[in-house]
Amino acid sequence: MFIESPRYTERFGSVRMSHAQRVISLDSGAKRRPHSHGAIGVKRIDEETIRHFEDRMAIVIPIKDEKLRLLEGVVSGVPHDCLVIVVSNSQRERVDRFRMEGDVLDQLCRFTLRQALIIHQKDPAIARAATEANYVDLLDEDGLVRDGKGEAMIIGLIAAKVAGKEYVGFIDADNYFPGSVLEYVRNYAAGFSLAQSPYSMVRILWRYKPKISAGLYFKKWGRISEITNRYLNSLISTKTGFETEVVTTGNAGEHAMSMQLAEILPFASAYAVESQELISLFENFGGILPTKESKVIEQGIDILQIETRNPHLHEERGNQHLNEILLSSMSTIYHSPLCDKEVRQAILAELINQGILKDGELPAPVHINSPLSKVKVDKFVNVIRKHSDKYHVLH
Ligand code: GDP
Ligand code: CO
Repeated sequence: MFIESPRYTERFGSVRMSHAQRVISLDSGAKRRPHSHGAIGVKRIDEETIRHFEDRMAIVIPIKDEKLRLLEGVVSGVPHDCLVIVVSNSQRERVDRFRMEGDVLDQLCRFTLRQALIIHQKDPAIARAATEANYVDLLDEDGLVRDGKGEAMIIGLIAAKVAGKEYVGFIDADNYFPGSVLEYVRNYAAGFSLAQSPYSMVRILWRYKPKISAGLYFKKWGRISEITNRYLNSLISTKTGFETEVVTTGNAGEHAMSMQLAEILPFASAYAVESQELISLFENFGGILPTKESKVIEQGIDILQIETRNPHLHEERGNQHLNEILLSSMSTIYHSPLCDKEVRQAILAELINQGILKDGELPAPVHINSPLSKVKVDKFVNVIRKHSDKYHVLH
C-alpha cells in the first residue's frame, strides 16, 4: 500500500505521537522495483512487510449480542494469517447466542482451514485463572469477570500471549463492511512497520462515517469523538503550554498495539478503555509525572494514527449509548492527575450542556484494571493453555 509519511510527530516526554497519516492507495503492486519507495512524502509498504506483521498478530473481536451476519462478515475480512480471537459476553440462557457465534466461526474456519479461538467472558475457568493470577481487578462481586469491552480486550490479550503473538489488534464485531476490516488490519501492519520502538500503538481514524438522513451523508466526525479529542488535546495543551490538535483517535475502537506495550498498559473498564490508554501513556511516560519504567523511557513509545480509505459503518445504538461513551471518556480525562482546574470546569460545563450531568453532579471515576505486568500473568497463561482445546474452534 501507499501511505503518507508521518508528516509531523509531537513529543511528550517519551511518547511520540504522529498526526494522522492518510492511506493513499490500498495496494502498491507485487513487483519489487528499484526506486519503488513511493514519491517524496509517501511511503510504500510492500506486501511482504504487511504479511510479516499479520503473521505475528492476533485480532481480538469483542462481541456482545451482535447480529451473527456481522460477526461472520468481520471474521471474513481478517487476513488469513492473523489469529482470530473472539471474546464474547453474549447471552447464553434461553437462546445460546454464544454457541451460535461459535458455530459461525467454526463454519468459516472449516471452509478456509484456519484456526480461531472463542472464549466467553463469563466462563468460570477464566475467572479462576484470574484469581490464580491475583488479577482481582478483573472480577466482579459474583466472582466472574466484569462486564465490559475493556475486560474482553484483556482476556483477548492473554489468549494472544498464549498463542505467542507479538501484536494484538482489536476490531469491533459490529462492523458492516468486511473490506473495511481487511483495511484496518493492513493499516495496523503498516503502522507497526513504521514504528521505531518495540512499544507501539496504531489507532484508526475513519475517512468517513456515513449517516443515513435523507440520503447517504459521508460525515467526517462523530459527535462523541469530536468532543473526546478536543478535551484530550486540551489536557495535553495545558501541560505543555502549546496548543495541539494531534489527537484525532481518542475513541478509536479499532486499534492495535505491540504485546510489549499492552503488557504495561492499564485498561479501563468498558467504553472508557480507548481514551484511558492515551491518558495512561501521557501520565506514565509524558515526562510530567514521575515514572519507574526506565527501559520503556529509553526506547520511547510510538503512537501512530492512520486514516483509512474505507468508510466506517457500524451499529447505531442511539443517544443513550453515545452519552454513556462520552461520559466515561470524559471521566478518564477529568480524573487524570494531569487534568487541571480549568479543563475540569470545561468538562463539567460540556457534560451539563450535553444534558448528561445535572448542575452540581460530577462524573464518577471509571474502574481501571491493572496492567498485565502487575499481575501473575504466567499463571493466567498456564490455566488458559491447559483449557486451550476448549477454546479452539477446530479441535
Ligand atoms: P461503539 O462502537 O463505540 O458504539 O461501541 P459498541 O457498542 O459497538 O461496542 C464495541 C464492540 O464491543 C462491539 O463489538 C460490541 O459487541 C462489543 N462489546 C460491548 N460490550 C461488551 C462486553 O461487555 N463484552 C464483550 N466481550 N464485548 C462487548
Ligand atoms: Co460499534
